Amino acid sequence: MSLTRLTLTDFRSYAEAQLEPGPGFVVLTGDNGAGKTNILEAVSLLTPGRGLRAAPLGEMAREQGAGGFTVHARLGDVEIGTGTTAAAPERRQVRVNSAPASVNALSEWLSVLWLTPAMDRLFAGSAGDRRRFLDRLVLALEPSHAHHAARYEAAMRARNKLLAEPDGADPSWLGALEAGMAEHGGEVAQARSRTVAALSDRLSATPDDDFARAAIALEGWTGRDLAAELRANRGRDAAAGRAVAGPHRQDLSVIHAAKVMPAARCSTGEQKALLLGLILAHAELVAERRGMAPILLLDEVAAHLDARRRAALFQRLEGRNQVWMTGTDASLFTEVRQASRYEVAGGAVHRV
Ligand SMILES: Nc1ncnc2c1ncn2[C@@H]1O[C@H](COP(=O)(O)OP(=O)(O)OP(=O)(O)O)[C@@H](O)[C@H]1O
Ligand SMILES: [Mg+2]
Repeated sequence: MSLTRLTLTDFRSYAEAQLEPGPGFVVLTGDNGAGKTNILEAVSLLTPGRGLRAAPLGEMAREQGAGGFTVHARLGDVEIGTGTTAAAPERRQVRVNSAPASVNALSEWLSVLWLTPAMDRLFAGSAGDRRRFLDRLVLALEPSHAHHAARYEAAMRARNKLLAEPDGADPSWLGALEAGMAEHGGEVAQARSRTVAALSDRLSATPDDDFARAAIALEGWTGRDLAAELRANRGRDAAAGRAVAGPHRQDLSVIHAAKVMPAARCSTGEQKALLLGLILAHAELVAERRGMAPILLLDEVAAHLDARRRAALFQRLEGRNQVWMTGTDASLFTEVRQASRYEVAGGAVHRV
């Protein structure tokens, strides 16, 4: 499924904007600050979650606007939309064919994956960032992952709070929270390992071309009986002020397969290529498993690649579902044969 129409109202730098892209490549070019990434962010909000900037909703309504914002899209004969109102700027509302719907209902219609310049720090950055990245990959394959992750976090927060109580925590209440952590944490860890295994298989079946093949593995916590582990470690966790072990400490290890080099020590361009290889493999997996090819949002990807890799990228993306790409310079995309091309300037978007 691809977007046949996208309409923004009071979203970020746009008072009003409308695009009617074709399937395949959608290329947005314009100066720094013109509003290219804002459009990709709008598309990313058509799935559950906080979008590609992971920004608070209140930040998205246009300054000097009426207060709320809307992002509306047509997918064939389905209309989906999301936004906020001036009265409730932090509450996300969703509509499917004009009827109110839950945020999670969006994942029935659309799957969206993205790659942004902020993700350049993924390999060198914190385990938490990699875990969130992995969780988005899991979520695209198993929508129930969000539920288990949220329940696990909630039980863990409640346990941390209870352990911090000065006159000791009620053991039966602690036991109930630990059982909840074990149940949902077990689901979280299993879903992650299923995704990592499926993605590994897919990666090893792809040619090791200009998109350096990644070897991936799940690291960190690999326990079996989380409830028992938590019970045994109440003292330690109380002293630390948090649960020291558990699925919330897992990490995604990524290695440049051909060089046997940890991704963190690869060059910037190599890291970009590794990430692209991962995202492309994942997109294929999602398309196969869910019968729904994801829309790809590639923010400033072309600028980081040399001419050969850029050509290879466009070739690999050819014939996929909608792929949105941005860049400051239209010349980066001359090798894209067919695309809906837009120029972004002065708070407006024009088809070129
Ligand atoms: N809520 C808001 N109201 C008004 N303007 C906003 C809001 N949020 C962000 N902006 C503005 O939107 C502008 C465009 O941002 P965007 O990140 O889309 O630019 P870009 O074209 O991707 O630029 P670059 O090439 O530098 O990545 C920025 O100048 C920013 O200040
Ligand atoms: Mg940008």
